[in-house]
Formats: sequence, C-alpha cells, structure tokens
Amino acid sequence: MTKQGRFLVVEGLEGAGKSTAIQTITDWLQQQGVQLVSTREPGGTPLAEQIRSLVKEVQAEHLTPEAELLLMYAARVQLLRNVIEPALARGDWVLADRHDMSSRAYQGGGRQLSSQLIDGIRQAVLGPCRPDLTLYLDIDPAEGLARAQARGELDRIEREQLAFFERTRAVYLAIAAEEPNVVVIDAGQPLAVVQQSILTELDHFWKTTHAALA
Ligand code: TMP
Repeated sequence: MTKQGRFLVVEGLEGAGKSTAIQTITDWLQQQGVQLVSTREPGGTPLAEQIRSLVKEVQAEHLTPEAELLLMYAARVQLLRNVIEPALARGDWVLADRHDMSSRAYQGGGRQLSSQLIDGIRQAVLGPCRPDLTLYLDIDPAEGLARAQARGELDRIEREQLAFFERTRAVYLAIAAEEPNVVVIDAGQPLAVVQQSILTELDHFWKTTHAALA
C-alpha cells in the first residue's frame, strides 16, 4: 500500500449522526490497512480541548460571535499545525470530526458574521492544507435537534433557536453546491441507507485516490 496520506472530514448539524458515520469510516479504513489519525473540532489537542470546553459550556458572560469565531480558529490552528499537518506529512490518513466548513456554516450562517471576516481569518491562518473529501451529513434541523435533545442536556450552541440551525444548514448546502470535494449525504434516511451511501462514497474516493497514485 502506498504511504500517501489523505484528509477526510465529516460535517453536519447536531443530531446528523456524525459519530456513527465516523465509526463506519474508521472501521472501513482500518480494513484497508490505513494508518489513521482521528481528530475533532474544536479540540483534539490539550489546549484546543480547553477551548472546546470554553465554547460549549454555558457562560455567565455573553460570548460575542467574533470571539467565538476566533476561538474556533485558535483551536483549529493548534490542531492543524500540531496534529493534522504532521500526520499527513508522515503519510497517515486523517479523519476529522468537523473542520473549517463548520466555522463557515455556524459562524457565517448561524451567527451571520460576514464572509469577508471569516475568509480573512481563513487566509491568514489555515495555510494550503485542505480536506481531500468532506462528507456533509444533511439533516432537517428540527429532526437533528430532537435527536440531540434525546441524548441529554444541551450545550451553549445546541440551545440556539431553530432559525440559527436553518441558516447554518443553508450555508452548508451552499458550500457543498460550490465545492467539488464536498459530498452531501442525506442523513434523514434510515441508518442502513445512510451507512451504505457513506461506504459508496468512500469506495469511490478510495478507487480515485489509488488510480491517481498508480
Ligand atoms: P460537536 O463536536 O459535539 O458537534 O460540538 C461542536 C459544536 O461547536 C457544534 O455545536 C458546532 C460548533 N462549532 C462551531 O460553531 N464552529 C466551528 O468551527 C466548529 C468546529 C464547531
């Protein structure tokens, strides 16, 4: 097997089924003999995990949208430089639970921050490293939130109004329509169908990747 790493991302609203999807993808990649590094955002390094707690916990002080955006990118750049880029440089694959698309969707759509502001920060901190494939699990926000509620107490972001998640979803879909390496998976389908769609996309990606490397 060739030692060329790939960067895969799973995205979606709360309750879209990211964790199950990530387990399916992990099992499949391990069967192919891939050396896999798994990450989550915000988080994935000790310092970035502290930022995760900060943004997820309900705070007495209002966290401004701009501060929230900067915290997401602070966590991201820690993870990118200290974990993701070194893993890809070694030839490992990276499977990420959320990445940059989340900030564009949640802070750009949900919080309605300008794309100019977000793009400026992205340009300044991300560097050239981009996902090779993003699977966006698309769910109706009301359905996703009902699933998240059934899991237990809601965090600071999960407590937002439905309209926040509708705007977030709209940006997710708009990005997916524009960017060729983002694939939309209909996560409202029965679990077995969702799993099969994910495996079909992965198999296609795997074959394309290996054809390109041959
Ligand atoms: P989750 O990993 O359990 O989905 O929680 C992460 C939360 O943080 C989720 O509500 C989405 C939100 N988020 C943003 O708002 N912007 C971001 O850039 C990232 C990575 C996550």
